[in-house]
Amino acid sequence: DQEDQLQIRPPVVTIMGHVDHGKTTLLDSIRNTKVTAGEAGGITQHIGAYQVVVNNKKITFLDTPGHAAFTTMRARGAQVTDITILVVAADDGVMPQTVEAISHAKAAEVPIIVAVNKMDKESANPDRVMQELTEYGLVSEAWGGDTIFVPLSALSGDGIEELLEMILLVSEVEEWKANPNRAATGTVIEAQLDKGRGSVATLLVQNGTLRVGDSIVVGNTFGRVRAMVNDLGRRVKEVGPSTPVEITGLSDVPQAGDQFMVFTDEKKARQVGEARASKQLDEQRKEGAKLSLD
Ligand code: GTP
Ligand code: NA
Ligand code: MG
Repeated sequence: DQEDQLQIRPPVVTIMGHVDHGKTTLLDSIRNTKVTAGEAGGITQHIGAYQVVVNNKKITFLDTPGHAAFTTMRARGAQVTDITILVVAADDGVMPQTVEAISHAKAAEVPIIVAVNKMDKESANPDRVMQELTEYGLVSEAWGGDTIFVPLSALSGDGIEELLEMILLVSEVEEWKANPNRAATGTVIEAQLDKGRGSVATLLVQNGTLRVGDSIVVGNTFGRVRAMVNDLGRRVKEVGPSTPVEITGLSDVPQAGDQFMVFTDEKKARQVGEARASKQLDEQRKEGAKLSLD
């Protein structure tokens, strides 16, 4: 039965924290990439999804923006994650979006690991960070609490190995599982309309296996998975639980945060997709009528 088919899946880890505290730099360092360098104004404006292999074990990371404008994306990130890495710059301390990130993680009941970043800076003051975070119920193990704090430098790489070890440790204790032998379900991370490829959606597969050719309902749209590209830009035929993947083939552009579901029967997918789309149209019409009355 279903229970028997559950297998350990990679943890989904969301990086959160105040703007410019070093979230993307930390992920760049872990992945050995330079995403930060390509960002307009050095500001992250979307959720990036990546998978890395550490000690033969996969970890899925979601990067989130720290800018005040992106509250919804942070909330969404917290909802699909198993662990939150709270990045706090040691020279800056707890700031408004640090506090916001803590409340998202708590609302989603997700464990928090604190990464005290920028330890290479002369003005770094990790004790102050620890002190400030006690006010939000995050008390380090060194101070008698149960929150893991890892001092590190995303720039130099010092402490990153310890952070990864902690992630694997928490994952071993929690043993998150999924069933790869069922139709895929999951969440839209982001989506947009591409001139050449049409609707392009980045999905996080949370359960089951997603395959090219699958009939899929995504939020209020549907289609057949035409092609899939992984986080390294390579074409893939199938992906299992906890894997981010970009798909094409949807009839319309879904919204970030939408749930998706594969149907074994294409007709069924079409019916459900069309029913949802027309329901959405009705709602939009009602909304429009309301607005014109105001
Ligand atoms: P948003 O996504 O816009 O919220 O920012 P972010 O948290 O992703 O920060 P980002 O990685 O863009 O880094 C912001 C600045 O801090 C950049 O100039 C980085 O080079 C710098 N920075 C990040 N980590 C470190 C670190 O460990 N040490 C020092 N000295 N600088 C760092
Ligand atoms: Na930044
Ligand atoms: Mg960033």
